[in-house]
Amino acid sequence: MFSVKNEIDYAAAHEGLIVGVFEKPEKFSGVLSKLDDQFDCQLTELVKSGDISAKFKSVNKIHSFGKVSVKRIWFVGLGKEKDFTFEKLSAALGKVFKAINASKLKETALLLDSFTTEEVNGLDAAHAVSEAFALASYKFEGYKQKSNEPEKKLEQLTVYSEETDNEEVHASLTVGYAFGKGTNSARTLVNTPGNMLTATDMANYAKELAAKYDFEVEILEKAEIEKLGMGAFLAVNQGSVEPPKMIVLKYQGKDDWKDVIGLVGKGITFDTGGYSIKTKAGIVGMKSDMGGAAAVLGTMEIIGELKPEQNVVAVIPSTDNMISGNAFKPDDVITSMSGKTIEVLNTDAEGRLVLADAVTYAKHHGAEYLVDVATLTGGVITALGLHTTGAMTNNDWLYEQVLEASKEAGEPMWQLPLFEKEKERVRNSKVADLNNSPGSEGHAIVAGAFIGEFAEGTPWVHLDIAGTATTAKEHDLGPAGATGVMTRTLALFVERFEPIEK
Ligand code: BES
Ligand code: MN
Ligand code: ZN
Repeated sequence: MFSVKNEIDYAAAHEGLIVGVFEKPEKFSGVLSKLDDQFDCQLTELVKSGDISAKFKSVNKIHSFGKVSVKRIWFVGLGKEKDFTFEKLSAALGKVFKAINASKLKETALLLDSFTTEEVNGLDAAHAVSEAFALASYKFEGYKQKSNEPEKKLEQLTVYSEETDNEEVHASLTVGYAFGKGTNSARTLVNTPGNMLTATDMANYAKELAAKYDFEVEILEKAEIEKLGMGAFLAVNQGSVEPPKMIVLKYQGKDDWKDVIGLVGKGITFDTGGYSIKTKAGIVGMKSDMGGAAAVLGTMEIIGELKPEQNVVAVIPSTDNMISGNAFKPDDVITSMSGKTIEVLNTDAEGRLVLADAVTYAKHHGAEYLVDVATLTGGVITALGLHTTGAMTNNDWLYEQVLEASKEAGEPMWQLPLFEKEKERVRNSKVADLNNSPGSEGHAIVAGAFIGEFAEGTPWVHLDIAGTATTAKEHDLGPAGATGVMTRTLALFVERFEPIEK
C-alpha cells in the first residue's frame, strides 16, 4: 500500500506525482526547485502565471511530456503558508485523492516535503496523507445490482521524503491509515440500513472485531440484561421483535486494570420514536441512530491496530425503538440498573434511557472515566448546527483532553453548560426519581443532564452527534451520508489520555 523512499527518482515510471504548492512562493525552494529543474524552471512560471493555482484546495494536473518518467503531476493548492494547518492539509489532500480516484489511477507518488511547514512537520503530513487517502476513497457500496465495470481505486502510494526519517514516516503513514480505516468502518455501520444491521448483527460485528484484535468480549443477552435489572434499556426494546444486546469490548494495554476509560455509544439501530412517534419526514434517516456505537466500534478498531498503553472498556446498548402491543408508553415508570426510577414522558427520548444503563454498566466494568457518544437530540442541531458536536461534562479536566483531541482531529465540538437549574428539571417528577423529557427548552442540555445523573461522581463527557453523524452533502474527505464523526477524536483521546493524579 505505502512505500517510503528518500531519494526522489525522476526515472521511476510513476503514473502520477502529487505535489503541494503554496501561494506566492518567492521562489520554489527545496524539493520543488529540484522538480522545477527537471522542467527547465517552467513550473515556476506556470505557478506565477496562475496556470497552476496555489489557491487552497485547487487541483491542477499537468502532463510531463517525457521531461521526467512520471507521467503526470497533480498540483494541490495549499493557500498561504502562514495560514497552513493540519486540517487544511487534510482537506487539500482529500481533494486531490478524490480527483485521482476519479481518473482511475491505481498508483501514484507524492512529494511529502512539499507539504511541510513550520506548523505541519513531516510526520504530521504523513499521517494526513494516509488518513486523507483512506477517507477520500471511501464509498458505501449499497445494494444496487452491480454494473459490470470493476471499480478501480488508488492502491499504491510511494511517498518521497528527503527531510524526514523514512521509517518514522512509514510508522506515521500506518497510524494515519488506521485512523482513516476505523472512521470508514464507522461510516459503513451507520450507512447500513436497520433491516441489515440489527442489534444481533452489531453484536456479531463486535465479536469479529474482538477475534481480530484479541479484545475480551461480552454480549449480554436479554435474560442477562433482565437479571442485571437494566429496566431502562429493556423498556426501549420492549416493543421490538429483535432481541436487545448489551455489547462490551475490553482492551487492556496496561499491566493492571486501572485508569480505565469507558467509551459508551448509543446503538439504536432504528428509532421510530415509539408511541411518541416521529413524523413521516423525521423518521427517515433514523438508521443512523447508532452513530455513537459506530464511533466507539471504529475507535476500538483503531485501538486494535495501534495498541496504545491504555485500558478501555467499550459499552454499547443496542436495540431498535419500535411500536407494538408490548411497547413501553408515555407515563410508564421504569427502574434503571442503578436503582433510579424514571418516569417516561416521551418514548422518543429513548437514547438517554439505554445510555443510562450502559453508563452504569461501564462503571461496573471498572470505568473510571466516561465518554458517551450519541445521536441524542434534534436540540443540538438547533443549538449548534450541522458541523459542530455538542459536548457536556461534569469534569473540565477530562473535557479539556477530549477537546484537544477533537481540535487535532479536525472534528469541532462546543461545550453546552449543565447548570443546576437544568439538572433540577430532569429530577422533577411526581412519581419517580427522574423524568426523561422535561420539555423542549434547551433539550440537548437536559438530555445530557439526564445521562449525567448516571455518571454521578465519575468524570464524564457527553458528546451529542445528532447533527454531525451524517451529512447531506459530499465533502473533501468523503461522500454524503455517514461521516464517522468522533472516531478519530476518540482514538486520539485514548492514545493521549492521562489519568487524573490521585
Ligand atoms: N435519535 C433522535 C435524535 C436525532 C434527531 C438524531 C435528528 C438525528 C437527527 C433521538 O432519539 C430523539 O428522538 N430525540 C428527541 C428528543 C425529544 C423527544 C425530547 C428530539 O431530539 O426531538
Ligand atoms: Mn428518539
Ligand atoms: Zn434516538
